This record gives sequence, structure tokens and C-alpha cells, in this order.
Amino acid sequence: MIAAGCAAWGLGLSTELDSPYPGAPQTPRLREYCASVVKAGNSILSSYGTSIFEAMSALAREHAAVNLGQGFPDDRGRLDLRKAAADYVIDGHNQYPPMMGLPALRQAVAAHDRRFYGLEVDWQTEVLVTSGATEALFDCYLGLLEAGDEVVLFEPAYDAYAPMLRRLGAVIRRVRLVPPDWSLPREALAAAFSPKTKLVLLNSPMNPIGKVFTRDELMFLASLVEQHDVFVVCDEVYEHLVFGNAPHIPLMTLPGMRERVLRIGSAGKTFSVTGWKVGYITAPAAVLRPITKAHQFVTFTTAPNLQHAVALGLGLEDAYFHGLGAPLVRSRDRLASGLAALELPVLPCDATYFLVLDVSRWLRPDEDDVAFCRRLVVDAGVALVPMSAFYEAGSPRHLVRACFCKEDATIDAALQRLSAWVAKQR
Ligand SMILES: Cc1ncc(COP(=O)(O)O)c(C=O)c1O
Repeated sequence: MIAAGCAAWGLGLSTELDSPYPGAPQTPRLREYCASVVKAGNSILSSYGTSIFEAMSALAREHAAVNLGQGFPDDRGRLDLRKAAADYVIDGHNQYPPMMGLPALRQAVAAHDRRFYGLEVDWQTEVLVTSGATEALFDCYLGLLEAGDEVVLFEPAYDAYAPMLRRLGAVIRRVRLVPPDWSLPREALAAAFSPKTKLVLLNSPMNPIGKVFTRDELMFLASLVEQHDVFVVCDEVYEHLVFGNAPHIPLMTLPGMRERVLRIGSAGKTFSVTGWKVGYITAPAAVLRPITKAHQFVTFTTAPNLQHAVALGLGLEDAYFHGLGAPLVRSRDRLASGLAALELPVLPCDATYFLVLDVSRWLRPDEDDVAFCRRLVVDAGVALVPMSAFYEAGSPRHLVRACFCKEDATIDAALQRLSAWVAKQR
């Protein structure tokens, strides 16, 4: 290919153009050549740099830092589920499962929704299994939106929401929750709706701020949703990682919402297996139909052994699900009290495995949260994530996110390093 292109370009295939091995850094001459013959990639996606999570993790590796940045648990997940996934492969279940998902898993999702939320769900027509909540979100966008449709979402927002919406030509209306209490700004929310609004994207319990929307807030949102006749995609991947102060209420359970809400869950969060990427959507049959088409053409299906193991997981006794919060509360409090002693106060956190820290005390005058996080990795050996990663623009400069689903030893190591660093600053 390169040889043919070079000939057309009037160049023989010179050693200067030829990379010595696949993936080798390009020579300046090769770069120039490529730029002349390869059209640019999509401008919207090309405009996004490497995600800050990747960048911070890479920096953490480089500096052997304790990584409280990216959100994955130290917990390896239940052995019985991991064994079930392995056995299913060994036993030969390795071909395409049904496009909608294994019946056992769809039945388990429907039974789970009935058990925990009293939702009556037809597993055959109202449940779709996806490759993670990430695919579920994208399928919902693809299945529901036309270019120019408006989507309301809440900021700070999980970083994967906006890029694909923009890529599809949707117009995003952002409603900003304001620290420290992150309560719903009702006037701003009402003002974000227009005749073009098609969808609201709601994440409760919410990453990165650990907020659980209250029944009152959800009722207010539901009234707007009915008034403007829109869909709501509810990203509820942290549904079981709640700490008791504020119960998680799926918007789908509120009056009038059953026929317009799409509820997304993820095995990655509920069973501490973030690499499995098994997600599920519950939605009314007619609403789910076009989303199923999106799924059919995006991934078609999800690894059968993982689906099988997740079906077993969703059938576990109540105690498993109710027991997920307690160890997280302990870890949250261990980290929060250590940070408070270092003049790094934390904001309230009722769910998820993320804490937001106020780092104002240690910010240099010209420093923002990104520069602060970089300095912290290098000088203190602790990786955190700047909150600006969750905003389009104009984010607060003094907030950073820490992940606390870590072993005591990891949290203690991070606190020790921060303590040594703080001592040098004072
Ligand atoms: C709010 C939120 N939604 C979706 C996802 C992605 O879930 P999955 O790994 O199942 O694709 C995450 C992962 O961190 C998340 O925090």
C-alpha cells in the first residue's frame, strides 16, 4: 500500500519511508507522505485528546504512584462467578449467543428489577443485554436520536456521555449541579428543555460526585419529562453501591415514567468485574425495538460465558446486594478522615466509589486542577483525577476525584505519601 502510494507520489520505496517494524515511530518523511494521502479522521472525535484517566494512569505508572484515579476495585470479584464464567468456556459455550442476550440473563434482569424495585418486566421483549453500560448508552443514542435533537444532561457528567452524542449531531443542553451540596437547580433544568428536546440523560447514583437523586428531585424531573414528552436514559450502574442515607430510586418506578424510561445496569459495578463489560437495558418493548437494531449492528452480542455468570450473580440472595455498601462506607471514611487531617476536605458522598476533594488549600495561585494532579503524581506519588474531566468548560478549579474501592493498604499508602508531601509544603 505504502509502496503503491509512493510510486504515485513519484518516490521509490526508500528506506527512509519504510518503517523498520510494524508500529515503529514514523520517520518525518513518512509522516509527510501520510499527511498528503490519508484523509483526516472524523473531526469531532479527533478533537478529543487521550482521556485524562489514561493520561493519569500512565503518569502513575511512570512515577510508581498509588493510583486512586481510575475507578476499578482492588476486590477481584466473587470466586463462584469467576469459576462459572471459566467453566462455561471450558464446557464449550463459545459461539454467538442470541442477539438480545442469553434467556437466562434476560430472565435474571427481569427478576432482579421485580425483586428490588417492584417493576414488572417482560424478559422477552423488554430486556436487552449489551457489552457494558457503555454500549447500552451508545445503542440508546443510535436507536432514539436524529441529528439536531436536543439532549439534557447533568454536569459534572461521566466523560463518555458527550463525545458520542456530539458525533451523532445531537445538541447537548447542560444543567450544572453546584457544589458543595450538588442539589438540582430546578429553574435551570426547566429552562434546558425546548420543543427539540428528545432525551434526558440521568446518572443516579452519580459518578463522579456520589449523589443519589432524591424522590423530590426525581418527581420534579418526571413532571418536566411528561410535560415535554421526552425519553430518559437512566444510567444506574451504581444502583447497589449506595450507603443508606439516600435510597436509590429508579426514575422508572415513578408514576408516568415506565413507558418512557430506559434503565441501564452493569455487572462490572455490581459484581466488581469492570473488565467483563456486561450491561443490560430495561425498557418498554416499543422503545427498546430501535435500540435493539443499534445493538444488532454495533456488537450483535456479548460473550456467553460472562452472560451466564452474570445471570447467576443477579440471582444471588438479597444479602449480597445489601452488603455491597458497608465495606465501601468503611473505605470512604478511612480515606476521608485521613484526607481531612491533611487539610483536604471531602464533599458529601452517599454512593458510588468516588470522593470529591477540595484541594484549594494546596493549589498554587496559577494552578488548575489538571496541573495540580500532575504535580501530585510527580511530587507525592499519588494519582487522582481532575474534576474538569467531567465538564465541557468552565469547571471548578479546586476539585479532584479520588476512587476509594481499594484495599486498606492501598488507601493507607496513599495517605502516607500525601502526608509526607503535605509536611514538605507547610
Ligand atoms: C456512570 C457510568 N456509566 C457507565 C459506565 C461504564 O460501564 P461499563 O463498564 O459497564 O461499560 C461507568 C464506568 O465507570 C460509569 O461510571
